[in-house]
Amino acid sequence: MSRLVVVSNRVAPITEGQATAGGLAAGVLDALKQQGGIWFGWSGDAVATPSGHAKARQQVGPISLYTIDLSRKDYDEFYRGFANDTLWPVLHYQMGLSKFTWEEFSGYQRVNDQFARALVPILQPDDLVWAHDYHLLCLADSLRQAGCRNRIGLFLHTPFPAPPVFMTVPAHAELIQAMCQYDLVGFQTETDRAGFSDYVIRHCEGELVETTEDGQVLRAYGRIIRTGVYPIGVHVDETRNQAKAQANRRTADRLRGSLRHRQLILSVDRLDYSKGLRQRFQAFERFLEDCPAARGGVSFLQIAPPSRGDIQTYKDIRRELEAEAGRINGRFAEIDWTPLRYLNKSFPRSALMPLYDMADVGLVTPLRDGMNLVAKEYVAAQNPEDPGVLILSQFAGAACELDAALLINPYDSVGVAMAMDRALSMRVEERRERHAAMMVVMRRNSLDRWRDRFTSDLELARPAPRGTIAQAVARPSSLALS
Ligand code: UDP
Ligand code: G6P
Repeated sequence: MSRLVVVSNRVAPITEGQATAGGLAAGVLDALKQQGGIWFGWSGDAVATPSGHAKARQQVGPISLYTIDLSRKDYDEFYRGFANDTLWPVLHYQMGLSKFTWEEFSGYQRVNDQFARALVPILQPDDLVWAHDYHLLCLADSLRQAGCRNRIGLFLHTPFPAPPVFMTVPAHAELIQAMCQYDLVGFQTETDRAGFSDYVIRHCEGELVETTEDGQVLRAYGRIIRTGVYPIGVHVDETRNQAKAQANRRTADRLRGSLRHRQLILSVDRLDYSKGLRQRFQAFERFLEDCPAARGGVSFLQIAPPSRGDIQTYKDIRRELEAEAGRINGRFAEIDWTPLRYLNKSFPRSALMPLYDMADVGLVTPLRDGMNLVAKEYVAAQNPEDPGVLILSQFAGAACELDAALLINPYDSVGVAMAMDRALSMRVEERRERHAAMMVVMRRNSLDRWRDRFTSDLELARPAPRGTIAQAVARPSSLALS
């Protein structure tokens, strides 16, 4: 088996019990723990004069961690600018929030080049390079220019929108051309994969694009690019064990004591406008208006660790939510009851799992989300004999698999309020049935399977293959997605 070299912008410190807000870090770390290999990425530091070389940071069991520093200008143009102020909103269909400058796009390309130059000396010829997420759309292009002939794959943790949405980024053509330097591009859902494929087939100007009938293998810019759907999952049994472990239950016990037998609705999200928190707060208010009998008997706990706090759109949403939480509590709270508990802090995953377990309702209502691991963790943490109910946005990638959840439209506050009412009074037989159906899918699409399917497909993809599409598809592919 080839050595695995994972590249992502964010590299999580490998410390047991450490809070890792973000599905990418959680998923990648778990995958690497099983298989071992190298994890390469940004140190998280913006320094005056970065060396440009990778530093060996940590060796934990089979994982070697390498990082590079960025300059302040790189940080501003690449991370704060193009990645998070241009691409992130567009990938989440929030074009109105996206800002673009060509300088920031150049900074984005420059940092992708820096990653590639620092990575090349570490690589061995047979390594599989697995890049992650929207920060690194140009990494394969940069690596190819630095002479790298390895197999290089990209997994996009975010959604990939329909071409007219993606084309609102003025540098869309450059990005797609760079993405075509990957051997394999993986997506969370078929909608995301089809968005990318459609763009390549219809909008690569001046290119004679060839494709298989299903659009999964493409030939463009003289290369063959495979695409596939690899929904990220969770370790189902480990999640439940963490939820039950006595050592993890301190926070949950404190919460239980303070609830005084009230029912609990729980949401856990990075504080991001794509998560639909404003609409969710409004739906909870609507629920309290429409169901007066529920007042005093239910608490809604929103855990929302701050994220990307030096970007204006994130400052705006934080301010707005503080005001909304205060207003809703001011309107409905009683001497002995606070309807909405809003916490701007992160918790280690080990402490979150028992919280999921004790929540009667997991409320996951993003406006758009690549997958949403919180939804899957919530289901996996439940006691199968007496499970809680998942309310899930139809616009989360997880909804493609977890269709036994109560699926809602996050923009419809009445619909979400009705789902809360229904979930809080659902009979145990129906809860068990829905939970069992979701567990079947989650066991099938576990985190191990996500990693195995992607890496075995990448293993089969030759670098810069020549020949026709017909020759390319004649080779076997990984286990089909069921
Ligand atoms: N998470 C955490 N501590 C927190 C909040 C979240 O460890 O205080 C974890 C959570 O358990 C999940 C991940 O962060 O594994 C969030 O992933 P998700 O896919 O839901 O959203 P993302 O942040 O990647 O957009
Ligand atoms: C999401 C993205 C990741 C990102 C994480 C945390 O999960 O898909 O790529 O690392 O959010 O965001 P941050 O900007 O702190 O890395």
